[in-house]
Amino acid sequence: RMEVTENFAGITLPGHLHTQESLHAAATFQFRDTDVVIVTYPKSGTTWMQEILTLMYSKGDGHLAKTVPNWARAPWLEHVYFKDMLQADREPRLLTTHLPCHVLAPALKKAKAKVIYVARNPKDIVVSFYHFHKMAKFLPEPSSFEDFLMQFLDGTVQYGSWFDHVEGWLSQRRELDLFYITYEDLHRDLGHAIEELAAFLGCALRPEEVSAIQQHSSFPAMQENTMVNYTLVSCDILDHSKGQFMRKGIVGDWRDHFTPLQDALFNRVYKEKMRHSSLRLHWPL
Ligand code: PPS
Repeated sequence: RMEVTENFAGITLPGHLHTQESLHAAATFQFRDTDVVIVTYPKSGTTWMQEILTLMYSKGDGHLAKTVPNWARAPWLEHVYFKDMLQADREPRLLTTHLPCHVLAPALKKAKAKVIYVARNPKDIVVSFYHFHKMAKFLPEPSSFEDFLMQFLDGTVQYGSWFDHVEGWLSQRRELDLFYITYEDLHRDLGHAIEELAAFLGCALRPEEVSAIQQHSSFPAMQENTMVNYTLVSCDILDHSKGQFMRKGIVGDWRDHFTPLQDALFNRVYKEKMRHSSLRLHWPL
């Protein structure tokens, strides 16, 4: 296990991907008005949105999505390799980040960059994140699901509190040019979600292009696509014998993991932490 972590702006992040320098560079990044930034708490549908937007700008042509890895097509702003990945001459630049709002909002407000915020039922995030911790050697080995769940509810997991992440970003909805969508929206009607995204981004698509995007970004297609399923990452970083990045891709897997007691505790903490929230409650809690 690579247990090194970086402390930044009140949260911890995996040291394998982040340094103080890379984090500082993200916080002071010069955005362009044409930039499109995918913002997520981990395990919320980041890779799915990277694929959808890549395909949208390719008008449904799968070539780019099948020849260039997702981390090069839509690089993470805060990662150490960001500078080498960023293709300055491509417009719009597709960027990704897991950083909290208070770190990035000042830099974002200096330009008119568009933000796509993807949220997911936090119960499904805990399950997905727990399984990912088992295979990702740059994250701490989880002792049990119960312990991991407690850390998630306390906000002491890597990348910080989910509650602070969604609340922070959604509180800036009007200050930023932000489009809010959920993983569950993508699941319910992917075609409609693509059309709404295209309208927000000012990207005209023909119906056959929408269907091609839908097909290439389906779970089975992405599970097979080595440019997006993370099987290219070395076993020193992701232990592929412990699980798959493209694990299940379903809504409601938490029901197979939570005990009734854990569910009751989660609901109590959620209601308490979100009591002042204006966030629509999409999720069955
Ligand atoms: S990360 O590590 O933060 O970039 O992870 P992220 O991409 O946000 O989330 C990974 C989960 O998204 C699921 N996924 C999908 N679900 C449905 N359809 C498609 N096309 C798709 N692509 C990725 C992936 O399987 C992870 O969820 P779980 O629940 O673990 O299966």
